[in-house]
Amino acid sequence: MDEISAAFANAYQSKRLVYRDIENNDADKGLMHKFGPTDHISWGLVNSRLFRDINKKASLDWLGQFLESGLLLKVLICLPDSTKDVESSKLGPGSRAAKIRENATPIGSLTLSKFREGSLQASATTVGICIGEEYQNQGFGAEAISWAVDWAFKFANVHRVEIVAASYNERAVHLYQKLGFRLEGRKREVIYMNRKYYDAVEFGMLENDWKELSGSD
Ligand SMILES: CC(C)(COP(=O)(O)OP(=O)(O)OC[C@H]1O[C@@H](n2cnc3c(N)ncnc32)[C@H](O)[C@@H]1OP(=O)(O)O)[C@@H](O)C(=O)NCCC(=O)NCCS
Repeated sequence: MDEISAAFANAYQSKRLVYRDIENNDADKGLMHKFGPTDHISWGLVNSRLFRDINKKASLDWLGQFLESGLLLKVLICLPDSTKDVESSKLGPGSRAAKIRENATPIGSLTLSKFREGSLQASATTVGICIGEEYQNQGFGAEAISWAVDWAFKFANVHRVEIVAASYNERAVHLYQKLGFRLEGRKREVIYMNRKYYDAVEFGMLENDWKELSGSD
């Protein structure tokens, strides 16, 4: 396979995970609802707006609008099914990768926002991620975010990837720093939760930072 074909064939996979576009249908939106609003702990960590229970219909309506808002990337993070032997099938590499994506189990979702508008703006995108509770703390978040950062620089001509965490989300703050995101700012006491004010901690990664970290050229 030549270099560009290999880049296409491997574009939606990383070491242990594969990624597929989120469909604006009840099944996929139901999964996002399950990973987010239904699990109040994850919901409190990912969402810094009013902490209220959200019924499924309201959530699916909102997700429908969100998915149609021009996102740069919207994927379900999926675990391939190790019981299905697709490797030895007669399929070519492109169809094999599609088969693996089709059979894989969704464990979380990841989005990249659309570019901010304005002629002097560098092309910048913000990561949103939520991993299902039973799959957290197993390195999948780290793997998926690294994959998305690489995808953004490789395919979308992005210059900056941004990610924001509430200061009470200590796991996220730890992870983003560990992945090499630079601390760029703190919006002080902008989040009110559980009778206290918290900061929004803002991180950024430039394409050159990523080249250095990943050893890519
Ligand atoms: C935040 C999230 C994306 C991280 O993904 P993940 O797969 O759970 O995380 P990983 O296993 O890749 O990495 C977690 C890291 O945080 C560390 N960690 C876990 N709990 C921690 C805590 N309370 N404080 C500090 N570090 C913590 C882990 O030890 C690990 O670091 P290490 O590799 O140096 O040991 C995921 O947990 C999630 O979706 N949580 C719910 C929603 C959310 O918070 N989304 C992000 C909003 S900004």
